[in-house]
Amino acid sequence: MWFFAIPKIDEIEVTVLHVSIKISNFALRFNIKYSMRNQKMYEADDKMISLIRDNYDLLQMLGSFGISLGFGDKTVQETCEDNGVDTYTFLAVVNFTINGSGEYENDEQLSIQTLMHYLEASHAYYLDFQLPFIKRELSECLQPDDSLGQLIMRFYDEYSHEIRRHMQYEEKTLFPYVRSLLDGKATAEYSIETFSKHHGAADKKLRELKLLIIKYLPSDGLHNNMLTATLHDIYDNEEWLRQHSMIEDHIFVPVIRRLEKLAKQSDVTKNISEMVFKGAGQNPDALSDREKDVIVSLVQGMANKEIADHLCISINTVITHRRNIARKLQIHSPAGLTIYAIINGLVDISSVKL
Ligand SMILES: [Fe+2]
Ligand SMILES: [Fe+2]
Repeated sequence: MWFFAIPKIDEIEVTVLHVSIKISNFALRFNIKYSMRNQKMYEADDKMISLIRDNYDLLQMLGSFGISLGFGDKTVQETCEDNGVDTYTFLAVVNFTINGSGEYENDEQLSIQTLMHYLEASHAYYLDFQLPFIKRELSECLQPDDSLGQLIMRFYDEYSHEIRRHMQYEEKTLFPYVRSLLDGKATAEYSIETFSKHHGAADKKLRELKLLIIKYLPSDGLHNNMLTATLHDIYDNEEWLRQHSMIEDHIFVPVIRRLEKLAKQSDVTKNISEMVFKGAGQNPDALSDREKDVIVSLVQGMANKEIADHLCISINTVITHRRNIARKLQIHSPAGLTIYAIINGLVDISSVKL
């Protein structure tokens, strides 16, 4: 997948100032640095400061989630709540980034809105800040009248153009599609599989660019240091993009696949439901208002005790309502009740955590 491939060149011999430097599968070591440094699963009651202290490169991620610094000794959950960020989704992205693995295919608790907001803000960070930043660095350490310097700049511009096009495609095609799905307007012309299949490679130019820079290191001490620093920044950028792409492939795509499935089920159930109610002369409103309140609470993921507290009734009453709901609707699973609640307008699909 995109940005995912480890360069085939395992060893690059570079001669700089008569010193032979061997770079052994540099990208692989970066990968290990990022994925093996801290094999911890952070939880809602961990302190936000300890998360950042152990993983300082997640600082930028906070910005993309819209979380401001200055959280003192607050926990992850308190900080997320203060900034209007879904804690569960924040932790899923953080733990996936730190540990390099996770299973999200059937995760019902991820917030699509939070994920989309995060991805959009990440695009803005990369396109509006990182790309111009590296360009400035490059132009400062390359001679403008040198033809190889010009070639490097041209390569960088082409690379920037490809990245921009890729991210703009996601913003103009993928995200609007997901929003229309959330609004209950599925379209047959596009699907998450179409996106997933074409989420392809675009890192060839960046690899060529890095080789050019490595080979172009000048003998001048100052420029040498500047180019080396720029090269490090480019490697960091490449790693950032790889992580970004992995979050899209391994968290966002599965969650949208699930949303599509639910939208299709919802359509089928709606048709069946209409037929059943019509044929039997029954009315879905045969449920009492209290029973509807219980359904809405269940769909929002509340347990019996939480529902009891929320509706100011006893747990036994909640259990009785649930038994009556199951009997009246012949629906016993939370997923079935979710579909029922959406179809009958008790909740909006966009407010359901999928
Ligand atoms: Fe993206
Ligand atoms: Fe992407």
